[in-house]
Formats: sequence, structure tokens, C-alpha cells
Amino acid sequence: MIKYNSKEFPKDFLWGGAVTATQTEGNWDVDGKGVTPPDLIAYEEGKTQNDLMSTEEIKAAIEDKENYYPRRYAIDFYHTYPQDIALLKELGIKSFRTSINWGRLFPNGDEEQPNEKGLEFYDNLIDELIKNEIEPVITISHFEMPVNLSTKYKGWYSREVIDFYMRYCEVLFKHFKGRVKYWVPFDEMNLIHRESFSQFGMPSDLVENNLENKLIALHHKLLASSLATKLAHDIDKKNKVAAMILTNYAYPASSSPEDVLAAQRNNQFENYYLDVLVRGKYPGTMLRLIEEQGFNIGYQSEDDAIFENGKADFISVSYYGNRTVSAESIKNWPNPAIDNPHVKKNAFDWLEDPIGLRYTLNKIYDQYQLPIFLMELGTGIHDKVEDGKVHDHNRIKFFEENLQQLKQTIYDGVPIMGCLTWGPIDIVSNASAQMSKRYGFIYVDIDDHGKGTGKRIKKDSFEWFQNVIKTNGKDIKI
Ligand code: BG6
Repeated sequence: MIKYNSKEFPKDFLWGGAVTATQTEGNWDVDGKGVTPPDLIAYEEGKTQNDLMSTEEIKAAIEDKENYYPRRYAIDFYHTYPQDIALLKELGIKSFRTSINWGRLFPNGDEEQPNEKGLEFYDNLIDELIKNEIEPVITISHFEMPVNLSTKYKGWYSREVIDFYMRYCEVLFKHFKGRVKYWVPFDEMNLIHRESFSQFGMPSDLVENNLENKLIALHHKLLASSLATKLAHDIDKKNKVAAMILTNYAYPASSSPEDVLAAQRNNQFENYYLDVLVRGKYPGTMLRLIEEQGFNIGYQSEDDAIFENGKADFISVSYYGNRTVSAESIKNWPNPAIDNPHVKKNAFDWLEDPIGLRYTLNKIYDQYQLPIFLMELGTGIHDKVEDGKVHDHNRIKFFEENLQQLKQTIYDGVPIMGCLTWGPIDIVSNASAQMSKRYGFIYVDIDDHGKGTGKRIKKDSFEWFQNVIKTNGKDIKI
């Protein structure tokens, strides 16, 4: 008997929001927390982090008293979480993703035992979510490796760091057993086109910032992710562990076969992470690249079994648009993107491409046939407060267009577990350390220099999204 696809969001759809520890909590040196890379990025107007730091620069940033480091203070979620969760509950969210800051639990990363004060904070936070019937989704590492693991061990370049990460994971899986079910071992495994220090913790004077070294670090992170997946399953078979990527799929710049092949090549490279974490194997295109370049990524004989035994339960993606590539630009992989005149950009030059969301989710499901959890969806906006209100109709339009495409995707037959909007409450931007690049339904009165009352204001989009959740997206038209 044929059973047609649903035209509606599933009944148990996880509507929600996502943030990170370092973009919200602040209190960077409180209760024994160790320093982590995001604590070291100062705000500089108009500057996007270049993400290379030497050991000297790390030391200088830790001691710097002149500049403003937004993530050291963020929105003070460390203290305001009960009120903020109450607001999110009023918004109606069913699920909240945040990260646990590795540096709060293991300030230096290589201790034998966790810092009790750090555990206590996350106990309280997770209990508060559960009390409000909000499903916690936990990212184990979202750029928060203790900086001591960088300066002493060269970050993920060192295979030894896997053991420290596993010690941390074991504490989490045992301590939060029965309270947390959804785990994301690492945020956006595939950011190698951009990042070296925040993703890999490799100081630029200790490890040269080149593709071979990044692939070595990535190999170690992929192993850690697979080992964590297996451990999560061993400790509690109810645990569900994600393979997470930022979608970097490509459109061809033209219909020429050369450009189409280039887009396919980009997509095969981007699938490298999912191939390893979902299928348990390095894909052919990556093996060819490694061989042709003469790289040695430190692959050991036991690694086959680690990947085979630690396959992810679902795929999680963050979506901020797709790349466009040509036969020429693909030569610059992992940074081959060129402009696409058919796709809009926001005020911060980031893409806004709702149809691309449908394309991406279909593409992933066609290939991997696993449920997909959309864990970041949003666009940065310069909001203005007028008479105590924020009329953010552009945000409503953005979500309306994207949720229409998400509903289309569900009607295409793709199993989507949930949709977490990025930064449902305003938080510090990752790339530019700005507060004025806002994503939230809730405004936070803090500016780029850390000035402001910290007051929370519900934007116009708050009520709109509240209604979307309440009606389970019934009014989203397709
Ligand atoms: C994602 C990251 O790639 O992009 C988040 O996981 C980040 O940490 C988000 O905040 C949006 O980027 P930005 O730079 O606008 O904050």
C-alpha cells in the first residue's frame, strides 16, 4: 500500500534554538574555568578573525588589559540562564542546543578529574531545561578546547589529544546519562577552509598552517568523533550521536561540463566528513588527493575499526547557504567559492538562499538515508530599538521563506528531526566578535564594546515564531 509523504511538520518536531557556551556564558575566568580560543579574540571594528595565533600572541592576549574581548563577558548567560530559559520557554521552544565548555570541566585539558564547579553549572543548566520540558542538545566541543592543549600538545595535530577528549566525553556521558540524549561531538567538522586555531587549536609557530597539517588534525578529530559515538552508545544505548557539518555544497558556476564536474568534486570533498562518520570510510576522492599531494595524515591500521564501530545515528547540519564553484576556482579547494549573482546576500555579506536549503537537505538524504537535524538556521541583522521595540520584519521574512523550503523538503520525503534557529537570543558573533550582528527573537541590550544594560526585549519576530511553534508550522504555506 502506497503511503504518501506528509505535507506537515511531524508531530514531535523539535523546534528550537542553538547557541554555544562561549558566545553566551561570559565569566571566562570564574569558578576555575581555563582559557579557551574564543576568549582570545578581541573585538576590532570591521575585522573578521583570521584565526592564526602563535604561542606569543596567545600569551599576550591572555595578559591584555587594553582591548575588549566580547566572549569573556558575552551575555552573562552563566548567571542569567534561568530568566533566559524562561523567555525561551515562553517562545515555546521544544529543544535547546548549547555546548559544554571543555575548559570549565578540564581547565588545562589534561587533568585526571573534572572541575566540580564546572559540572555543577551544567547540572543546573540542564536541569533547568528539563524542568521547562526543553530537550537539551549538547555540543561537546564548539571551539572550546582548553588552550593548554594547544600550547603544550599542539592541539588536534597531536594524536594524544584524543585521549584527553575521551576522558572529557566519558565524564559527560556518565554524568548526564538519562538527562541528555542528543550529542554533537564537534561543531562543523568541515571548517578547514577557514580555521586553524579555533577548530584545531594549532598555534601557528608550532604547526605550519597548511593543508597536510589540517588533514592530520582532522583525522584525529574524526577518530575522536567516532570513538565518542561508540562510547556514548556503550554507556547508554538511548544516546543519539550526530555527524555534524556546515553545509558547503556547491552550485556549478555554469552548465559547462568542466564547472559541473568541479561542483561535484567540491561536494565529494565536503562529503569526506560524512563518509567517514556515517559510512565508516575515507572516500575515494580524498584518498586520491592525499596520495597525489604526497601527504602523510598519520592513518594507522587500527583506525579502520574505529571508524567502522563508531558510526553516527543522524546527520546534523548548520545552513548558511551554498557555495558556487568553477573549474578554475576548485583548484583553490578548500576555499573555492566564487560569487553567485542569483543568490542574495545579507548586510554582512553572507548568503541568503532558501531554495538552497531544500537542495542541500535532499542531497544529503539521497546520499546517506539518515534522519537530518537542522541545527543552525539564521541570518545576521542590524536590529534597531525604536521606542523600546524591535520591528524585525526582515527576520520574519527570512524565516518564513526558509521554513517554506523546509516544509517542501519534508514533503519531498526527507526525515527532518527538528529545526534549531541560530541564536534565538542575541549572542556574540563568532566570525567578527560583534554583538551588533544579531540573530535573535530576543534582543539583548549590549553593544560591540560591551556597553549596555543587558536588558532583554522581545522583538516582533518573537510572537511570529511563537505562533509557528504553537501551530506546528501550519501557516507556513507551500
Ligand atoms: C556557525 C557557528 O558556523 O556560524 C556559530 O557554528 C556561529 O558559532 C554561526 O555563530 C554564525 O556565525 P557568526 O560569525 O555570524 O556568529
